[in-house]
Amino acid sequence: MNPLKHMAIIMDGNGRWGLKHKNSRNSGHKEGLKTVEMVIKFCIKKHIKFLTLYAFSTENWKRPIKERNYLFNLLEFFLKEKLEKFNNEKIKIKILGEKNFSKKLNNLLDFAEIKTRKNTKLQINLALNYGSKKEIACAFKKLNKKKKISENDISNSLFTKNIPDPEILIRTGNTQRLSNFLLWQIAYTEIFFEKKLWPDFKIEDLNRIVKKFSNIKRNFGNI
Ligand code: IPE
Ligand code: IPE
Ligand code: MG
Repeated sequence: MNPLKHMAIIMDGNGRWGLKHKNSRNSGHKEGLKTVEMVIKFCIKKHIKFLTLYAFSTENWKRPIKERNYLFNLLEFFLKEKLEKFNNEKIKIKILGEKNFSKKLNNLLDFAEIKTRKNTKLQINLALNYGSKKEIACAFKKLNKKKKISENDISNSLFTKNIPDPEILIRTGNTQRLSNFLLWQIAYTEIFFEKKLWPDFKIEDLNRIVKKFSNIKRNFGNI
């Protein structure tokens, strides 16, 4: 059995789901929250300690302002509604990425991190305004003065400092690319590209992936 401490997810396919079912991309974003809740419950049940969710990339700023604002409002609504419950369940919230949203949303994100900082049951990392290249460039800047730079120095200068690398990365939405997500951290991660759109992704799919993962021979270069 392979240990599983950290699962990372590129939650893709909301827009297509919304267009197909309700003729609106945004309705897919709303529907996708149900899958988020399902995954959180799953992680708690399976004692997975870290869950990283890619919610908004540095490239997603290219989207129309109406869709961006819908996403930010949805995040605000979701956090306000769930924060108390998350805290009671000993869930810790951490934001990966630079908080450069509205003052209101930035404050709420800060508040969520501070309020839940001592919790140890499950850490949810929300990748928001996150881009792996930007993260690595920031790390280089921090290490600028150092003469010798080790792999650990780099890991410890990323937003994911103190978070173990993910053992599993899932991307839903039938697209096989990484879209600037955790490029350094997934050097040895098992990757699962799923055909289903994020709102259609169900607990059976997670069970199948985790089962498959537990039987993989992870060599790390050895034989
Ligand atoms: C959700 O899926 C990812 C976010 C950026 C929130 P998309 O909105 O990319 O959905 P598709 O890929 O267009 O279907
Ligand atoms: C990746 O999905 C970003 C998130 C899930 C937040 P995108 O839909 O933005 O990725 P691309 O642009 O198709 O590569
Ligand atoms: Mg997409």
